[in-house]
Amino acid sequence: MLRRLSPIQPESFAFTPDNLAWAEAQMTKYPEGRQQSAIIPVLWRAQEQEGWLSRPAIEYCASLLGMAYIRALEVATFYFMFQLYPVGTIANIQICGTTTCMICGAEDLVRVCKEKIAAAPHTLSADGRFSWEEVECLGACTNAPMVQIGKDFYEDLTADKLSALIDAFAAGEVPVPGPQNGRFSSEALGGATSLSGLTGSADQYNASVRLAVDLKETVKRIDGTEVPLLTPWRNGKPAAANAGAGAADAGNDATN
Ligand code: FES
Repeated sequence: MLRRLSPIQPESFAFTPDNLAWAEAQMTKYPEGRQQSAIIPVLWRAQEQEGWLSRPAIEYCASLLGMAYIRALEVATFYFMFQLYPVGTIANIQICGTTTCMICGAEDLVRVCKEKIAAAPHTLSADGRFSWEEVECLGACTNAPMVQIGKDFYEDLTADKLSALIDAFAAGEVPVPGPQNGRFSSEALGGATSLSGLTGSADQYNASVRLAVDLKETVKRIDGTEVPLLTPWRNGKPAAANAGAGAADAGNDATN
């Protein structure tokens, strides 16, 4: 997939004083003369400041680290985590279009984004609040099809579920990330089946759920807030079958 810089670029870029201090602190992590090793976190900070990575921002980071522009451009254009086009102010939806997600319905998700956001990727919606793009495998293939929004994965999607997610974001909500079909993680939808003959596999699964509850595991959402790892839609659903009544109850306690 070709990754090019946006044809529309700002005049200039500079870190805010706070971000510059942060970047300079990152650079001290590396031996003298190896400051360019900080290129990924420094580019990431620039993106967090502006929402996307413009050419002036990439060149600014290269200069800060004493690198040739092309070296920083190589990094920025290689990783999908770097946005080379302006993104929606609420959400940029990254749809995984690789084999597993494609077979499981990624094209339906693309259709939803075309209808609800913009006909072409890397294009802002009419109100500027949303954008979308197709990306390569995001490593959640067992929960295909899926999208990444901000730093969160939304998995086990259908066209209707993605449409509802976009509506929720548009309404100012931040939907809880993770599987959207009642799964806890990537176990079989009807309950754990693999290695079921081995002593303790179900117990082990329940224990992992229990541990997540006991540790009050959380996940950080796009707006920076944190929610319990166990998701509310598990209440009274497959959770009971998958995790055992005790763990399911505990999960409900953690999310209510
Ligand atoms: S193929 Fe979509 S996450 Fe791997």
